[in-house]
Amino acid sequence: MEYEKMVVLRDGIQVKIRPLRKEDEELLVKFFKNLDVSDVMFLMDDVRNEEVVREWVRGLDYNWVLPLVAVHNAEIVGDIALKFSGRERRKHVAELTVTIARDFRGKGLGAALNEAAEDIARQKGIRKLKYETPISNVRAVISAELWGYTKEAVLEKEFYSPVDKLLHDVVVLTKFIQPVEVEETPEVIEEFL
Ligand SMILES: CC(C)(COP(=O)(O)OP(=O)(O)OC[C@H]1O[C@@H](n2cnc3c(N)ncnc32)[C@H](O)[C@@H]1OP(=O)(O)O)[C@@H](O)C(=O)NCCC(=O)NCCS
Repeated sequence: MEYEKMVVLRDGIQVKIRPLRKEDEELLVKFFKNLDVSDVMFLMDDVRNEEVVREWVRGLDYNWVLPLVAVHNAEIVGDIALKFSGRERRKHVAELTVTIARDFRGKGLGAALNEAAEDIARQKGIRKLKYETPISNVRAVISAELWGYTKEAVLEKEFYSPVDKLLHDVVVLTKFIQPVEVEETPEVIEEFL
């Protein structure tokens, strides 16, 4: 996968956005380990468990999940994963998860990673993108809305946080990145008539 983009953040710092590679295993483990418990309490996976992260890197398959990382001074400072749907009838939909290092937040890096992932998704024919996050993750919800996503659904008590030991509602935020052609649907519907 060839992709590389230099971006200048709001404070003038330059970062490189590129796909995650197998050689990045130690860097990615370090990136997630450095996150605060308040950062990871709303993430769907236990990213501070290095075995979870190592499994991701070892099983890297860009056709399934395409992770992009933001690199500064040979350190990973941000990560976004574009997860394609394995379902035939949902091939036009992909899901995103994004995490930014504490020191790099509020500088537009989340927006830059989101834009890069959207460009790639568009090239791959994806039409609809979504984020799923506990509704209590206010910062993430506000950020996604600023990046053009809208709240489409709320899934009640879908997420258990081991930190506060509570069940949280999950919000699904979506964005259409390419027009969804109406004339493409009848063919599928006809099969069921
Ligand atoms: C959510 C997250 C990715 C945002 O990253 P980021 O690099 O700070 O994002 P950006 O700087 O591009 O944009 C954040 C925007 O939200 C705004 N914002 C954040 N919290 C806010 C709040 N409580 N009230 C108002 N605005 C807020 C920021 O001001 C910024 O707006 P601006 O671009 O107009 O200045 C980051 O906070 C993070 O890594 N959180 C932990 C992991 C997580 O929860 N990920 C989401 C699950 S998929």
